[in-house]
Amino acid sequence: MQERLEELKQEALSKVEAASTLKELQDVKVAYLGKKGPITEVLRGMGKLSAEERPIVGQLANDVRAAITEELEKKQEIVERAAVEEKLAAEAIDVTLPGRAVNQGNRHPLTAVIEEIEDLFLGMGYSIAEGPEVEQDYYNFEALNLPKNHPARDMQDSFYITEEILLRTHTSPVQARTMEAHEGKGPVKVICPGRVYRRDTDDATHSHQFTQIEGLVVDENIRMSDLKGTLQTFAKKMFGEDREIRLRPSFFPFTEPSVEMDISCFKCGGHGCNVCKGTGWIEILGAGMVHPNVLEMSGFDSKKYTGFAFGMGPERIAMLKYGIDDIRHFYQNDIRFLKQFKRV
Ligand code: PHE
Repeated sequence: MQERLEELKQEALSKVEAASTLKELQDVKVAYLGKKGPITEVLRGMGKLSAEERPIVGQLANDVRAAITEELEKKQEIVERAAVEEKLAAEAIDVTLPGRAVNQGNRHPLTAVIEEIEDLFLGMGYSIAEGPEVEQDYYNFEALNLPKNHPARDMQDSFYITEEILLRTHTSPVQARTMEAHEGKGPVKVICPGRVYRRDTDDATHSHQFTQIEGLVVDENIRMSDLKGTLQTFAKKMFGEDREIRLRPSFFPFTEPSVEMDISCFKCGGHGCNVCKGTGWIEILGAGMVHPNVLEMSGFDSKKYTGFAFGMGPERIAMLKYGIDDIRHFYQNDIRFLKQFKRV
């Protein structure tokens, strides 16, 4: 019986030795130390032993159990530690790896130019006025001295929704709305940025949807020289201190007299180059003195009040400023294009 116990001990210990997972250790434990295990069986047969032998075998059986249990526990600890180490190795992070760059966005170049223009006029005491993009024919045309049969109302030029409602073709209706809201009392000093729509076929210089910024000043004694000074300040701030401006006679139904403003070419300084197409001048915007009819229609006494207005296209200004050759770049939002304006 003693021999049998010794045998079982060796067997169990070599199995513990061979085991490499917790599950295998558990199996060894159940097999050798469990209620149905061989050691328990040996102990059960002790009744047949003599009184002298019994305590010796009992002691031995307990020693064998203790020895197997001890080895099992030791091995269990080793296996557990190995498992933890394996897990740590698998989850290790390399703190020396450089981090992933955060993809930082930037303002859209058109937004940047609009905000630059807004800031410039806010600094000159203007406030910002906005109006609806879906506009009444009355504000878009009629109140601006464009009578019913004016060619600019042609279905070819405007997106009509009904006979009386259309997508505004310029930001000038905001002039009419703003004056109306002032109920005949000056001063009015606003700029009106916003989207406008025309039935144009998109190409490098045309888009059916683009933006405009309108300016309007109405007060007593507002003269053409005020307009000229304002435009000059704008041109210098936007395109450089040594820019000169030139006003050419033009026509808009809502201003009289009307002008187009050119700036001296910022690339060649006026000698002629590809940017100014050899003329030395670049056309920037339309402007004029508010037509007396427009003042009257919006509730202002044209004998007491005068005013000036101007309208420009931020796309054109941004294209000139940054050498962009196709207006469609602004709307396609190709990230490779947009990223070039990170510092603008
Ligand atoms: N509304 C005109 C246009 O769209 C621009 C303009 C505005 C001209 C104000 C004169 C005064 O072309």
